[in-house]
Order: sequence, then C-alpha cells, then structure tokens
Amino acid sequence: MKQRMVFTENERRRFLKLAGYGTLGLISGAIWPLLNCASAERISKTVPDETFLPDLDLTLTARPGEAAVFPGIPTRVWRYHATLHKGDANRVLEMPDGYLGPIIKAHRGERIRIRFDNAIPEPSIVHWHGLHVPAVMDGHPRDVIPQGRSYLYEFTIKNRAGTYWFHPHPHGRTGSQVYRGLAGLFLVSDDEERAAGLPDGKYDVPLVIQDRSFGPDNQLLYLSGHMMERMTGFLGDRILVNGLPDFALPVSAGAYRLRLLNGSNARIYRLAWEDGRPLIVIGTDGGLLERPVIRRYAFLGPGERLEIWADFSDRPVGFKTALISLPFDPGGMGGGRMGRGMMMGGRMGFNPRLPDGAGFAVFKIHVTKRGKKNGSLPEKLAEMKLPRLDEAVNLSHPRRFYLLMQRMQWSINGRVFQMEDVAADEMVQLGSKEIWEFHNTGGGMMGMMHMPHPIHLHGKPFRVIERRGVTHGGYVDEGWKDTVLLMPGESIRIWVDFDDYPGMFLYHCHNLEREDMGMMRNYFVKS
Ligand code: C2O
Ligand code: CU
Repeated sequence: MKQRMVFTENERRRFLKLAGYGTLGLISGAIWPLLNCASAERISKTVPDETFLPDLDLTLTARPGEAAVFPGIPTRVWRYHATLHKGDANRVLEMPDGYLGPIIKAHRGERIRIRFDNAIPEPSIVHWHGLHVPAVMDGHPRDVIPQGRSYLYEFTIKNRAGTYWFHPHPHGRTGSQVYRGLAGLFLVSDDEERAAGLPDGKYDVPLVIQDRSFGPDNQLLYLSGHMMERMTGFLGDRILVNGLPDFALPVSAGAYRLRLLNGSNARIYRLAWEDGRPLIVIGTDGGLLERPVIRRYAFLGPGERLEIWADFSDRPVGFKTALISLPFDPGGMGGGRMGRGMMMGGRMGFNPRLPDGAGFAVFKIHVTKRGKKNGSLPEKLAEMKLPRLDEAVNLSHPRRFYLLMQRMQWSINGRVFQMEDVAADEMVQLGSKEIWEFHNTGGGMMGMMHMPHPIHLHGKPFRVIERRGVTHGGYVDEGWKDTVLLMPGESIRIWVDFDDYPGMFLYHCHNLEREDMGMMRNYFVKS
C-alpha cells in the first residue's frame, strides 16, 4: 500500500515524538518537516553532568515569603533565595531589604550550575535575561516545572561583562510572578571591563527600578480586571528601587557606576538628573559601550539596562539630587478614526493613578561622606567593532516583524504565541548573520492602538543598526542590546549573528502583560 503523506495532527505528534522531538506539537504545517533534519534534541536535565565542572554551583529556590517593604504589616511576596554549594561566597549576594532575589556574580568563561527549586504553588521556570546559553538552558515556557520539582541549568558564560538579570518565564504567568517579587541580577565581569578601571566595590551600585501598587494592608495589588489594563500593561503608583519605596542612595563624594535595570512589568522611564546635568552613559544591556555617550535624558523600557557614570567628588557633604523620570507622550488609542480623547475619556478609558508618561522622582541621592578622587571617566571603555552589514545573509530582504493590534489582541505579524509554533519565516540557519526589522508603525485601522513596545530577543545579543521615525530621542543604541524600545511610529533594524546554539528561542514584547497575552513568538535556529 502506498504510504500516506498527509498526517493527522495526532500522527504528526506521534511522529515527532518518535523522531525525538518530545512533545513538539503545533509547528506550522508548512515547515515542520524541516525539523526532521534539525538537531533539536530537547533534554530536560535533572541529573548533573559528571564531566561539567562548575566554577559556581548553587541552588536557587523560588518560594513564598514576606518582605518589610513598609513599616508595619509585612508584604507577602514570592522571592528567590540562593544556597551556594561551590564557589566564592561573595559571588552570591542576597539583597536583604525588599523582596528581590540574589545578585549572582560570574566571570566570562566560567561554568555555572544552578538547580532551580520551584517552591511556589504554580509552574515556573527561570530565564537568564540577556545571557547567551543553549536553548534547553534558556528557560523556555515549555520547560516549566510544577511546585516541588527542580530544573538543572548548566552553562558557560559567553557574554561580555554586563548587567544581566533573571526572572520567571511560564507562559501566561510571567507578569504576575515577576510582580510578586521574582527577579534577581546576574552580573558578569571580564578582563576588558577590569582593564577599564571603573569604580568598583561600594562604588558599583545595582539599582532595580520597578513600580508596584499596594493596598492599605501593605499587600500587593495586581490587575484590576479592566480590559484596557492588559492592553497597556500594569502600571503601579509607587516607584520602588531594589524592592523599597522612597529609595535614597547615600553616597560618598566620589565617582560611581550606577547599573540601572528596568524590572517593571510595563512602565517606561525617561531618565534624567533632577538638576539638568546630562547623563553620562557607559553601558547598556550587553555591557560597556566603546566610549561614554552623553544624553540629556534616556529612555529605559522594561527589561533594558543602562549603566551610568555619576561623579559626586566635587559635591559637598549634604548635597542632594535625584534621578527623575521626565514626562513623555506614550501614545495610546489613536489610530484611524478613534480619537484618543474619545477613547480615553469614554467607556473604555482606563486611568491608572500614575499614568504611563507621567513625571516623578525615581530615587534620591544624598552625599553623606567626604570622599576621595577614585578615578576619572575613561575615554575608551571597550573594543567594539561595527557589524559588517554585507556579511548578513538577508541584507537585501531582511526579516520584517510588524507590531500589531487587531481585535483587542497584540500580535507580531498577526500571530500570537503558541507553545511549539514556529512559522516558515521564523526559521533561522545556524551560522548566519541576519538583519531583522521591527516596525511599530501601526496602520490606520479602526480600533488600532499605538503604543510603545520593548522588544526582547532571547538567544543572542544584537546591535541596533538603524532607527527610523524618531520623534523623542533619548535612545542609547550604540552598544550590544537584548531589549530595544520602539515608540509609536518607529522602526528599527538589528543585526544578529546566530553563530552557535541551535534550537528554539523566543522573541517578544517585554511588557509582561502583553507577553502573557501572547505578544511573543518562537524562532528556531536549525543546524
Ligand atoms: Cu526578560 Cu523573555 O524575557
Ligand atoms: Cu508591546
């Protein structure tokens, strides 16, 4: 009998299972046979690899707990705790105040083993935001584990020195789990960074910026249930830094390296110094820039990082300043015939107490001690070659991704997230350099919403090679990035080198409510 070439969904699943692709199910019909020759081995590891000798070995546990965010009643949170098994004790620092998880420090080239223990009453998985790790180590939502189980991560640090972070990534629950407190920092160092001679020790300060809302009992309030809130993303009315409200950083009169992470679910900051001094930016998502750049203000979208040089050495004891977020126009309902005012003021309007684009203080700085001159701003920070565009395999026909809103659903090219779904135009050849374009240009359709989107790529850091349609300014596109903010009307082109690690990775909007609603897709690197 002739072999049938048309598979039913069940047969296809069974076939993929036999072929070693686990539960790969919903791959788009058009391309799934391609995977037969891809080495997409999926091994959920629980047993340590005997031949993997870690420099740092720890257990990271997510569990319910309490944090003294305000005086009085403690706030119920979920948080990460670390237990170190091997490695230098000062490489894993718990953040004692607030609710944030530990700061893990590693040097480029080191091998890291982390056992993630899930002790929260929901499935979860950890994603190492910005780290270039194999697909099975990346914390894809299909790798979630239930309460009481663990997931073993083993990877080598291949990234440049920089401020990376980690957070949960279960589909549909990332927003709420991060909101409850699950997030920590992963600081990578390397020899090049060391040679730059930047302020270190207590002059190197990580600052995680988030917004939250609290009830009168000091407990966290999340989504109100208003449909519009999921479209815009959750906006809290309190600004927290390192898990604490009304944050003030005491400094000595010296030079500081401030590492800022926007760990908010949806809020965008337009950062500036209160006294109008320019920001001296030395690094972004993927570490140090080639040389410092000066900005009057800088946008920081959810997931992005910015490293700032702040020199207080000529300031007297008692000097006070603040990092503020300047007001800006975040767009909104406004495409087509639906006037913004009509929508916002009308039945569908949703008004958070601290709206997107409002101005406020992020944290204060007090010079409390006399200091000494502890270094001056280096002219050159790092070596950074411009990407060779002519090496890109698709220079003449870049991949195009349109950020769209249709029928009250955010999408990328009209598609929403499906756990195992990869479309034909989401297949990438291992070893190729590519140009990807993201367009936040909307259309004129009725019901269109035009909003900013922070776009994040898993797997590989990238370079922004072009940005169009800019009306605001305030971007630092010079360095290596893994998350990039697109204001309404903007388009960007990025350059990515898929030089290693085959398998399935994500790209998505890092507004966590939109990500949870499906503004996320897989791409697949085939070998
Ligand atoms: Cu910071 Cu896919 O995440
Ligand atoms: Cu978005």
